[in-house]
Amino acid sequence: MKQPRVVTLSNYEDARDAFRQKQLRQALYDEGEVVMADVLVNLHGDDHRARRRLENRLFLRSTHASYERELFPPIVDDAIAPHIATGRAELVSLSHQMMMNLAAFTAGVDRPSGSAEESFRLYAYLMRFIEGATLAHYSGDRDAKRAAVAGALDDFDAEFLRPSIARRRAEIARFEAGDIDEAELPRDVLTVLLRNQDDLNLAHEVVLHETCFYLLAGAHTSATAFVRTLDAIFDMATSAPADAERARDDVYFLQRCVHETIRLHPSSPVAIRWALDDIELKGGQRIELGDKVIIDLMAANRDPAIFGARAETFDPSRKLPEGVGPWGLSFGLGMHACIGQELAAGTASINGIPGEDHLYGLVPVAVRAVLEAGGCRDPEDQPELDPESERGYWLRYPLVFAR
Ligand code: HEM
Repeated sequence: MKQPRVVTLSNYEDARDAFRQKQLRQALYDEGEVVMADVLVNLHGDDHRARRRLENRLFLRSTHASYERELFPPIVDDAIAPHIATGRAELVSLSHQMMMNLAAFTAGVDRPSGSAEESFRLYAYLMRFIEGATLAHYSGDRDAKRAAVAGALDDFDAEFLRPSIARRRAEIARFEAGDIDEAELPRDVLTVLLRNQDDLNLAHEVVLHETCFYLLAGAHTSATAFVRTLDAIFDMATSAPADAERARDDVYFLQRCVHETIRLHPSSPVAIRWALDDIELKGGQRIELGDKVIIDLMAANRDPAIFGARAETFDPSRKLPEGVGPWGLSFGLGMHACIGQELAAGTASINGIPGEDHLYGLVPVAVRAVLEAGGCRDPEDQPELDPESERGYWLRYPLVFAR
């Protein structure tokens, strides 16, 4: 079979333009169908529009505000409190556990017993689903891995999803009977899907995949940003001590640290698309039908034409050209622009002054909770990068609470 031509876009303007092209179709998860078949990020055209319009109903400013101010803080506190009590934590596992709990809440996956054992099982499923979604990078026996992931999906369905669906159906029935108000319904993706399942002809399989996708999309990205931001702030304690102190006291500045971390380390270093037609980008780059288009986010987010000569450095006070997000293109743009962006990273202020309705986002809220508790690197046990990770993930990151 003829190999497709590969076009790599490395500058910011081309990357931005490509995200907005309707004739470029998602290609990042082609191998990950076992989990990712029919999920939002893989849909195109009218199918995508209809599903996105539906799910957008959950991701409103008012919902983000209640998540950030009321629903998430207890989940963050519950995750951190036992570690504060012992005076130490391992940040990588803490980040995954905390962000999985937040993502499960948003997706609509109940954990009825709330036990550590139950969290552990959900976490094991999540790790399996990640393996399924990233099968393209797996060098072992892919069919065997695919079968293992499919088995995990069945088990997750029986153990977590079906009971979560049953509870929501009962709540929806109570609402339809006039026994409860709409505001009392669970505020999560699963409830939105169930209330509109017939309109979009959503089979149970699709609801299963979509719920798993929300677990993946919310948990891993936020966990990574959380650990990397804390690492950057701990580094600042030596390189720019006044800034490190400011990050502990000024949550708006702390939010800028999160944005700058996300710019320098996008959750996936590339976005990939198939060209459904011939296209010419504004900058003159030609793309032909059938081309594979690689949007190099890592390079675009460090483009000196946009971010200046010191684009590679971590600088939360950097000035940005108008219309450029402080996170660069790390949340994508166009039809697949991250639906959870505001939830994860809050709102960007126009003039550098946060207004009353400003949102900080769950990653800054979680980072602040660690800093407020006096979290800092364990001076006697240095963090270790995962030698097997090409993306610079931490293997372990010991933390002590000094207050
Ligand atoms: C730091 C945190 C996050 C980062 C860096 C991030 C990044 C991204 C990126 C780059 C895309 C676009 C993918 C593409 O165009 O191929 C995306 C899409 C998406 N993200 Fe996020 N994300 C984050 C957090 C979240 C959270 C918390 C949620 C869930 C609540 C979420 C849900 C989604 C969904 C559903 C899509 C697909 C949207 C669509 O196809 O219409 N993300 N995300």
